[in-house]
Amino acid sequence: MKFTFVTLFSNLVEGYFQDSILKRAIEKDLIQIDYINPRDYSENKHFKVDDTAVGGGAGMVMNPQPLFDSLDELKKQDSYAHIIFVTPVAKQFKQRDAKRLAKKSHVVFVSGRYEGIDERVIEEFADEVFSIGDYILTGGELASLVLCDAISRNIYGVLGNSDSLSIESFENALLEAPSFSKPKEYKNIAVPKEYLKGNHSKIRTLKIALSECKTKFFRPEQLLKHKTTEH
Ligand code: ADE
Repeated sequence: MKFTFVTLFSNLVEGYFQDSILKRAIEKDLIQIDYINPRDYSENKHFKVDDTAVGGGAGMVMNPQPLFDSLDELKKQDSYAHIIFVTPVAKQFKQRDAKRLAKKSHVVFVSGRYEGIDERVIEEFADEVFSIGDYILTGGELASLVLCDAISRNIYGVLGNSDSLSIESFENALLEAPSFSKPKEYKNIAVPKEYLKGNHSKIRTLKIALSECKTKFFRPEQLLKHKTTEH
């Protein structure tokens, strides 16, 4: 799977792939990462890429020309490229989106800076538009990385143990049960006794109960969804 980041600040993105799971995924050629800087396409003699907003309003908006030309070129090279814009003005990205997008051959993330991107670019090129949550970041790079990470770990081979995918939070509307590592007792706090006894059916039952507790406490609306789909 290829990921292309369309960004003015590739430095902000590159570091994330220099360690750990996604570094290994690149080494194993399971994912490839590529960058496009819209500034390289700017026809402005000073390579400007933004301007004040037409009709007023605070801040600078990214001009259409550099983005139109970069994305036109990208589409010419790969007409299957799936183009995603990240912006707070969109529906929230979910685990089911990560799973669905992991099946694409090429996903492109367009990150805005400043006050945003000229809407005509989004209208022309967006296959999908996502927000990562109800807060405003200084730019889209972090949001693009969040999506890229969540998609990548659903690509076969990226995680060592694909079991870990099927039992985690959001796979069945419940939050995942708590996990513990060794030692079995630390600073006088023991892990739940059932976890130690090796009776897997009992452990499973306890984990479901703990999942329900966690979900009820942190995400009560999810518990309702779980109960509705269960019945
Ligand atoms: N850009 C700025 N804030 C964002 C958010 N919450 N989600 C996606 N892109 C963004």
